[in-house]
Amino acid sequence: TFVVTDNCINCKYMDCVEVCPVDCFHAGPNFLVIDPMECIDCTLCEPECPAGAIYKDSDIPHEFREFIELNVRLSSQWPVITERTITPVDADKWDGVAHKIGHIID
Ligand code: SF4
Ligand code: F3S
Repeated sequence: TFVVTDNCINCKYMDCVEVCPVDCFHAGPNFLVIDPMECIDCTLCEPECPAGAIYKDSDIPHEFREFIELNVRLSSQWPVITERTITPVDADKWDGVAHKIGHIID
């Protein structure tokens, strides 16, 4: 499965949802996650993310390991998103800020 990691938080650009053929992205207020039970490993979303926040689980940097479990948990809580909505106004300001995990709104 693919996994959404730290740099999506407060950026939420949503280019990823436009390309996913199986609609496995789920959206919270300021972060998206992938349902690992639905992801078919098509690889389309990874290069689409302007924030570089999506990784294959087997290639995930050590510092983002906890996002694997977080995608499992939050995808069961949040609704599916299939179309891009409004990106946060300050998204570009947050792009590249490290360790945003504490900012997730659920
Ligand atoms: Fe969707 Fe493909 Fe990305 Fe999995 S790898 S989340 S199926 S676009
Ligand atoms: Fe997040 Fe990148 Fe998608 S910032 S919403 S994973 S395009």
